[in-house]
Amino acid sequence: MKVDYNNLITPCFVINKKELQANINSLHIALANNWNNYMIGYSFKTNSLPWLVNFYKENNCYAEVVSESEYNLALTLGYTKDKIIYNGPIKYKDLFLDAIIEGSIVNLDSQREIRWLEELPKDKKYKVGVRVNYDIEADCPGESTCGMDGGRFGFNLENNSLAQALEKIEKLENIQISGLHMHISSKTRSLNIYRSIANKVCEIKRQFGLELEYIDVGGGFFGGLSTKPSYDEYVRIIKDELEMEFSPEETTLILEPGASVVGSPIDYICRVMDVKETNLNRFVITNGSRTHIDPLMHKANYFSNLIEVKENVIDKQVVCGFTCMENDRIMTLNDEKELKEGSYIEFNKVGAYTMCLSPLFIEYFPTVYVKENNLLEVVREKWSPIEYIQKCKR
Ligand SMILES: Cc1ncc(COP(=O)(O)O)c(C=O)c1O
Repeated sequence: MKVDYNNLITPCFVINKKELQANINSLHIALANNWNNYMIGYSFKTNSLPWLVNFYKENNCYAEVVSESEYNLALTLGYTKDKIIYNGPIKYKDLFLDAIIEGSIVNLDSQREIRWLEELPKDKKYKVGVRVNYDIEADCPGESTCGMDGGRFGFNLENNSLAQALEKIEKLENIQISGLHMHISSKTRSLNIYRSIANKVCEIKRQFGLELEYIDVGGGFFGGLSTKPSYDEYVRIIKDELEMEFSPEETTLILEPGASVVGSPIDYICRVMDVKETNLNRFVITNGSRTHIDPLMHKANYFSNLIEVKENVIDKQVVCGFTCMENDRIMTLNDEKELKEGSYIEFNKVGAYTMCLSPLFIEYFPTVYVKENNLLEVVREKWSPIEYIQKCKR
């Protein structure tokens, strides 16, 4: 990215609009080419920066939300209720019922939600979806995030919870089961996961004789990485399996991408403020923080660029953040050019599960820019104590 770093308020995130646009365009194209009856629900939880949420609205995406706050955020930012996919393990009754009545896509996750269905007016028919929980490890050993402990969302197929849930819902004459929600969190984001999901939907349809208006395969894809599967490959795998029981004429395919669309186009830039040597290490202290780009503290390395460095190479430099936590060590550089006071570090592909998980710890939320045609626009100003103290008594 060509940016004049000296003009930036650091630390900051920079959204590369061209790449953001290219990512969502390629997903639309892959779906249009393979299953032209589709919906994309942008996963708010992955990054719900208002500018991004609006960007996806303008790019014909639905809002995929998993809480009352996210649902209300979607409304506040101009989504209509019929353009919201309402998922999640904890819903509240009033909003749950209103969302169904107003035509949101609501995927049930618990017994209490099934009970609430009985409170819907009896003189009209309403549609709901059901989240499926199944043993993904049987098809894709070692690939799921939960491993042998299994996932905790939805109704389990293997122990008959799904069968019982479907039976209870089918007894309600004013309720139609119109879709299945199949999202699975995997470590691998592999094509196998989606082959398994699509295959399982076909199996469930046959077993329970369901007529489905939509199949929601969830999110969890790779995107913006040339070494990983493309959207076209994902959608073709899904299509090849679904075609055994479904057709685009009758059934809408829903995808809920988050990381794959928003991860790669976002960089984080911080400035080296100090370099400190001890008897054991050379610490490069930046004005950024691991809490901004690795809030879950699990990343070991990054795509990154070092800018305005010295020519000589240093065997080990430990890049640290501004906080007072010893473990705010962002990465260790081996055999890289020497960082000095005033150097910059650009971390790439850090748009997913970063901004939305950052704590308000020591510093408040950093500035966010959007870069378009080499022009930078601030789309979130750095939070100051004014934003921090809002709604607080003194
Ligand atoms: C229900 C649901 N849909 C979509 C997503 C988005 O996943 P990702 O950001 O990995 O694409 C998630 C993430 O956990 C999810 O739980």
